[in-house]
Amino acid sequence: MNIPQWPVAGSREQELIEAVLASKQWGGFNEMVARVEREFAAYQQCRFGVAMANGTVTLEVGLKASGIGPGDEVIVPAISFISTATAVARVGAVPVFTDIEPYSFNIDPDRVEQAITKQTKAILAVHFGGPLADMVRLQEIATKHGLLLLEDAAHAHGSEWEGKRAGSIGQWSSFSFQNGKVLTCGEGGMVLTNDETVDAALRSYSNQGRRPGFTWFHHFDLASNARFTGLQAAVLLSQLAELDGQIERRTRNATLLLDALRDVNGITWQKIDPRVTRNSWYLVLGRIDEAKLGMSRDAFHKHLTAAGVPCTPFYPHTLYDNPLWQSTPCRVHPCPVSEACIRDAFWLPHYLLLGDEELIVQVAGVIEREVAA
Ligand SMILES: Cc1ncc(COP(=O)(O)O)c(C=O)c1O
Repeated sequence: MNIPQWPVAGSREQELIEAVLASKQWGGFNEMVARVEREFAAYQQCRFGVAMANGTVTLEVGLKASGIGPGDEVIVPAISFISTATAVARVGAVPVFTDIEPYSFNIDPDRVEQAITKQTKAILAVHFGGPLADMVRLQEIATKHGLLLLEDAAHAHGSEWEGKRAGSIGQWSSFSFQNGKVLTCGEGGMVLTNDETVDAALRSYSNQGRRPGFTWFHHFDLASNARFTGLQAAVLLSQLAELDGQIERRTRNATLLLDALRDVNGITWQKIDPRVTRNSWYLVLGRIDEAKLGMSRDAFHKHLTAAGVPCTPFYPHTLYDNPLWQSTPCRVHPCPVSEACIRDAFWLPHYLLLGDEELIVQVAGVIEREVAA
């Protein structure tokens, strides 16, 4: 099978990298950093973007900019990458692990409402695998309880909810450009916001507490250095030009793949809300019903891998089952769906959907053959 490589660079990356090298300004103050901040913010329909070193520090800086710290609780899904929760703990607040919906893989708004206490300051939604969490319900809950709604959009470059791009709904949103993401420069991240005050705070906390109009050695906030570099910006600008075409291709191929597998009894694919008008297709997610399929998730994963189809058997545990929470304060709401997904869910990577139609037909054939065997 001709599985596409990821990531892929061309002559445009080379040209822009060379321009950065020739500029003698390789770091965070190369004009390409400001350019990619403008272009990516506009792409996600936001006013401001602050590029940073990765999609973990973006969450930490975002939480600092929102004034979240000791004594506060932040509601997070029990299923995500670890940074969604560690960022909360690293600013001194307490993550509250909350269950996801059975088939969307996104945080369950009903469970969110049950997890709210007097300490709750924010809901940090993750758009898992690409499709947005139910931002309408989450915004209603946030408004009703006086909470901030924040977005970890590390999976959702280009995704939309009723025409609104991921990242444009919450007070701020965090994106990752790590090597495996649908938009990458190896490492990198960006926080987007429509709020001028938040933008100023993001810039200060990611740049040693500096403020515009003062010298290099004036520092106003207890901050750190999370700056992006010109070299990262050169790669990201080049890759951004490819994103629309890649999303179109993945969408076409995902439709083809899922249509071909519609009659397989025992796999439930991610339920995508009809209000999700565009999906990055970062992950093709599914859950195995062992009784119906006649095969466990682990056996399914083994068969696909042996047949050459890249497949990941989900996370090995919920976020709260990571050993670090034995020594780090957190609160755990009952999460039966998250725990079931650990046993029965899997994903296929986005780059598989960048293949040609023949590959998609082959992959569907492999899955049909393996589950029938
Ligand atoms: C949901 C989510 N949030 C945050 C991150 C962290 O991003 P980075 O690897 O750029 O630090 C990731 C990375 O996989 C992620 O999946």
